[in-house]
Amino acid sequence: MRITPPEKTTKTQYAFDVAEIEPFLTALPMPVKPWPNAMITLKDGKTMLIRAARKDEVPLLLPYFKKLMEVEYDFYDIVGVRVYAELLGWYRNRLKDPYVMLGLIDGDLVGFANGRLWNKDINISHHTMTFVRRGQVGTVMYYCKMYYALEILGCQEFWSTFESYNGWRLGFQTRQPTYTWPEHQHELGGAQIYYINQDHWNSMVKGYLREQVGADLVFDNIPAELLKINENMRVPEEVAV
Ligand SMILES: CC(C)(COP(=O)(O)OP(=O)(O)OC[C@H]1O[C@@H](n2cnc3c(N)ncnc32)[C@H](O)[C@@H]1OP(=O)(O)O)[C@@H](O)C(=O)NCCC(=O)NCCS
Repeated sequence: MRITPPEKTTKTQYAFDVAEIEPFLTALPMPVKPWPNAMITLKDGKTMLIRAARKDEVPLLLPYFKKLMEVEYDFYDIVGVRVYAELLGWYRNRLKDPYVMLGLIDGDLVGFANGRLWNKDINISHHTMTFVRRGQVGTVMYYCKMYYALEILGCQEFWSTFESYNGWRLGFQTRQPTYTWPEHQHELGGAQIYYINQDHWNSMVKGYLREQVGADLVFDNIPAELLKINENMRVPEEVAV
């Protein structure tokens, strides 16, 4: 767009450094407490560590999500492609206040969960994924996100939507109400917003993990060996879901 200036000027051109443009394109981050390390014993006796992903791990994750985009069942394709975009959005600073959690067993990546903060009160769930199935890994990862939003960050609401039946089942088990639609739409494709607020969390959902998996998250006294073995993750070479 060009408009003739309403007055003569001494300079007719101004140059910008891209570093000066960048602040207009990026969402300046809010101060957000990181997800602390947590561990849980799964039903098969294995211990999963759930830790925050590091930004330098994104290039290791992207090729695997490229493969997941090709999996044409159980909605791994649509979830895979969206997670790829969200990871790149984090890596290239094009996503506001994202968080990414990894589920690791003996250094192997088995689970994934991510979301972002709309503001200090509203936490938006993006995706949950399991790479080793039938171990309730997804149930644990989704619970970690709710716990992070409503317990650790003290957000007022946690907003989900579901792209798959297995994902919807995670929400169904926590009996989430929805906002009216189409007035309110989740940013993932404009579907309904399912939400959990603090009252719902405290009265019904907080104890859900023990009920489903038979164990709680443990945050204290995580053994140094468990942290060490899961410090550098191994991403599956092939998709086996
Ligand atoms: C949604 C998701 C995270 C749930 O993870 P989970 O709770 O660990 O559950 P699983 O995927 O291991 O298993 C879910 C169901 O799939 C079926 N299933 C999984 N593997 C199976 C197999 N090899 N053979 C037959 N059925 C299988 C089972 O019915 C199982 O339920 P059950 O354990 O009660 O029998 C996971 O299914 C996933 O990553 N899906 C793809 C991405 C996705 O849809 N994410 C959610 C977006 S809303």
